[in-house]
Amino acid sequence: MGETFHAIKISDHVYWVGAIDWALRDFHGYLTSRGTTYNAYLVLADKVTLIDTVKAPFLDEMLARIASVLPPERIDYIVSNHSEMDHSGCLPEVAARVHPEKIFASVIGVKTLHEHFHDTLPIEPVRDGNVLSLGNLSLHSIETKMLHWPDSMMTYLAEDQVLFSQDGFGMHLASSERFDDQIAEDILLYEAAKYYANIVMPFAPIVARALEKIQKLALPLRLIAPDHGPIWRTKIGWIVDLYGRWARRPPTRKAIVVYDTMWQSTARMACAVAEGLQAGGAAPKVLSLAACHRSDVATEILDAGALLVGSPTMNNNLFPTVADVLTYLKGLNPRNLIGAAFGSYGWSGEATQEIETFLDSMKVERVAPAVRAQYVPTGEVLAQCAALGRSVAQALLAKIQL
Ligand code: FEO
Repeated sequence: MGETFHAIKISDHVYWVGAIDWALRDFHGYLTSRGTTYNAYLVLADKVTLIDTVKAPFLDEMLARIASVLPPERIDYIVSNHSEMDHSGCLPEVAARVHPEKIFASVIGVKTLHEHFHDTLPIEPVRDGNVLSLGNLSLHSIETKMLHWPDSMMTYLAEDQVLFSQDGFGMHLASSERFDDQIAEDILLYEAAKYYANIVMPFAPIVARALEKIQKLALPLRLIAPDHGPIWRTKIGWIVDLYGRWARRPPTRKAIVVYDTMWQSTARMACAVAEGLQAGGAAPKVLSLAACHRSDVATEILDAGALLVGSPTMNNNLFPTVADVLTYLKGLNPRNLIGAAFGSYGWSGEATQEIETFLDSMKVERVAPAVRAQYVPTGEVLAQCAALGRSVAQALLAKIQL
């Protein structure tokens, strides 16, 4: 490994020493079509400090990148901003090899790391606002509890004006480029939105408060260095503004029609619903679950105002893919949605009721009763689907005008 992997200097005192996971396609249920990176950072101070580590199988790659700058045994401190295993998985192994003088994490981080590794790693807590002296440099701790785990914190290197933001402002994107300006903006936008929708969305109110907190601190920022994806150096304002918008989720004309189908009945209903939405002035997007992964549906919902869900009844239940996506979306807790249900059935027809139960539990405001088709939709039923779409469009436009 020695000569193969190199560190990349990102500021006066900081090197990127992370790992690139080109092959990853499933990040706990999230389709990572472009792979990911696990970013770790080496701060060359009087006390040499490693910020975060990498997923366990990538230990050697990280150590080789560190070794391209200095022997890993020279590391004095390790700061763990976030305990999830993609950033802490190799911490015990790194500690065993490097024997750092100290390891730091947030108060909850200390507890969580012990609960992960069931060992006696000497981890010291740092609290919000603490300043950790590295001799000639200083690290400031910023607690960001529940963004997105209870232990989460960010660390600011004042002298280089770098904010190490752990998962915040990150994205799953494997690339050889390390900076935002080296990657096409449409890819940055899509992957940052996908990451926010699938990882951060449940914590929208906390995002808003964290952004406020960071703004109040008025930290001069030359770089935002997250734990996944590119480092922000030219689009800092752009990504911070996007987080603000995604946290607010203002109403839009976009309406998602998500469905699956057994014998094309629910598919035909979905198309009729979309026609009605379009005719009513909304902007429909139809997502077949045969073609879309649950994490793509979540991404589309991020800037949508309405969610319409269709499912056949199969064995007295929702179609499995529809149950899957609704369970997933319920956890992500998208707010400010209106919606409705539709679906086909043969003899029992529980699916639409089950969809409505999900929509209610997600606090999606149902603006029209469900439309159902027995076996195959007639022209009359398809007209009811179109009317359903028009009703939702009307409610959506009224909401935008409020
Ligand atoms: Fe990238 Fe929450 O771990």
